[in-house]
Amino acid sequence: MANENLGNAKKARNDEFYTQFHDIEKEINAYLDYDADVFRGKTVLLPCDDPEWSNFTKYFAQNFERLGLKKLISTSFAPNSKPKQLDLQPTLFEFESPQFDESKTAANGKIFTLTRDTTGDNIINVDDLEWQYLDGDGDFRGAEVTALRDEADIIVTNPPFSLFREFLGWITEADKKFVIIGNMNAITYKEVFPLIQGDRLWLGATANGSDLVFRVPEGADISPSDREKAARLGYVGDYTRLGNACWFTNIDHGKRHQPLPLMTQADNIKFSKHKEIKGQGYRKYDNYEAIEVSFTDAIPSDFDGVMGVPISFLHKYSPEQFEIVGTLAQSDPNYPFRTKWYSAKDQQDAYFRRFGKPGIIPLNMSGVINDVKVYQRILIRHRKVAK
Ligand SMILES: C[S@@+](CC[C@H](N)C(=O)[O-])C[C@H]1O[C@@H](n2cnc3c(N)ncnc32)[C@H](O)[C@@H]1O
Repeated sequence: MANENLGNAKKARNDEFYTQFHDIEKEINAYLDYDADVFRGKTVLLPCDDPEWSNFTKYFAQNFERLGLKKLISTSFAPNSKPKQLDLQPTLFEFESPQFDESKTAANGKIFTLTRDTTGDNIINVDDLEWQYLDGDGDFRGAEVTALRDEADIIVTNPPFSLFREFLGWITEADKKFVIIGNMNAITYKEVFPLIQGDRLWLGATANGSDLVFRVPEGADISPSDREKAARLGYVGDYTRLGNACWFTNIDHGKRHQPLPLMTQADNIKFSKHKEIKGQGYRKYDNYEAIEVSFTDAIPSDFDGVMGVPISFLHKYSPEQFEIVGTLAQSDPNYPFRTKWYSAKDQQDAYFRRFGKPGIIPLNMSGVINDVKVYQRILIRHRKVAK
């Protein structure tokens, strides 16, 4: 039980990190470059967002007029519902506000809205945000925030990572446009991969394959290596970095329509910079009719069949160039791209072949080459093969 509590606390604490203004700006600019009117006349909801901390609210409020927004709504999660060790006190902004209510400050979430100029300076911006306490704690799953979701056209946030599956389900069940931050590993979740395959979710335009650095509450527990990596990127103090964080969206941007420049199989074998390919060629899986392409830049332009590529391929994926046919981690027996199923005996035999003694290698739910499992792979095929 003690361990479970610790696990939960750790998990919860890991949800407290805040996105930087310039990371939000770079990502949103990519959507605007593709369609300058993408936010025009729209209601944008920023759930899981404390505007006193969050740069999402600042960014959208500051750019309210430029984006042509109809309404901005931002909600925050009550301090009492967050991990206790954070010890969150009301900010000066809240404390000095006429709405401040001692009985609600810790237990209730807040809602901030922006629709009009309230200060009389003829500009709608962050100074015009109006706020009040929510009736509940601001949990996105509650009826209050769900009604705001239904009102919104576009949902943008960095949601709690520990609730990512639920959060994505919450957005997709209402069929909303979204731009959210998550962990790249989510790609293989059974709730996420079908959306990618069905072209209902893709990666955002920026931060692909590079570290995102987040601000954390003062004194938060950060691993020394993450602190060091953030410092190397120029962020010293209460910052952490997440190597695997990326943007997920269903709003179009230009990057996903740029085809990958590729060489033919013959040229890859002659000139590839990867020693695994140059002079070697492409290996086939033992348990699935496809070739293994362990580097995205080594995808041959003229291969007509199915290819297994690393999940980082999705950073470069253009739906006009490739079709995603599945993953090698498929367990559903009815799934058309299912790998061969290894019996216990098959796995014991494979162990014996490799190590010359009794044992078992788990080989299911993966690509296998010469009795060795390969890393997670996505299965793709060219839409049109180069001649
Ligand atoms: C990763 S942080 C990001 C905060 C902010 N969106 C940003 O990027 O700066 C996620 C936030 O969601 C809040 N949160 C956790 N569980 C929540 C829930 N069930 N409903 C709403 N917010 C929640 C956390 O307290 C945390 O502040």
